[in-house]
Amino acid sequence: SRKPIVAIDGPAGAGKSTVARQVAQVLDLLYLDTGAMYRALTWLVLQSGLAVDDEPSIAELVSQCEIELSGQPTLMEKQATSISVSINGQDVTQEIRSLEVTSNVSAIAAQPIVRKELVRQQRRYGKNGGIVIDGRDIGTYVFPDAELKLFLTASVQERARRRQQDLKNQGKDEISLDELEQSIYDRDLKDSTRALAPLRQAEDAIEIQTDNLSIVEVVDWIVRLYRE
Ligand code: C5P
Repeated sequence: SRKPIVAIDGPAGAGKSTVARQVAQVLDLLYLDTGAMYRALTWLVLQSGLAVDDEPSIAELVSQCEIELSGQPTLMEKQATSISVSINGQDVTQEIRSLEVTSNVSAIAAQPIVRKELVRQQRRYGKNGGIVIDGRDIGTYVFPDAELKLFLTASVQERARRRQQDLKNQGKDEISLDELEQSIYDRDLKDSTRALAPLRQAEDAIEIQTDNLSIVEVVDWIVRLYRE
């Protein structure tokens, strides 16, 4: 029998990966960032010069690609916990966070063949449980029998504000709040209206509205729920 699975879903920029990584650290579980997988494939599609709507070529690319996520969070290295991502042996940890990847990922993630292959890899990775997985369709589609399902949300305004702060902290070019809100809104719309496994709150998921909560508060809440 497998160990428990914690599924964390929600819209873009709700802080899922930060929270999921820290929950995994505290509970000593594995962590899987499924968004990073769709992002890595998107990077490869763009890098290969393919059009994002060239489904047959993308299908071929995804059938041959190998995505690796490494560097599991451990309590020992609380600071150095960024997960590195590589595709076909190339490290794309930084590249997958670019504006170009972010603005194209939803179109690629909507393609059924892409989802079929990446979901297969995600299920294989989580088959023994003992893992925190974040994404859009984990509680509804990838692991509908997950023991604990969370749906993290925040207003578009708050998510744009946090994103702007992140960019600032990283010393990157400033983007206006309006532009950030628009891009978050567009991505949520695409992710929640696609035909296969759209972004949706599972019926048995616990919603956590994070507008007025800190990361630590959200992490503590989830850890408490897990231990119950
Ligand atoms: O979580 P993140 O923002 O990195 O996800 C990037 C994109 O990957 C999402 O906007 C969505 O299009 C896609 N995605 C998905 N299903 C998941 C995780 C991410 O379709 N489980």
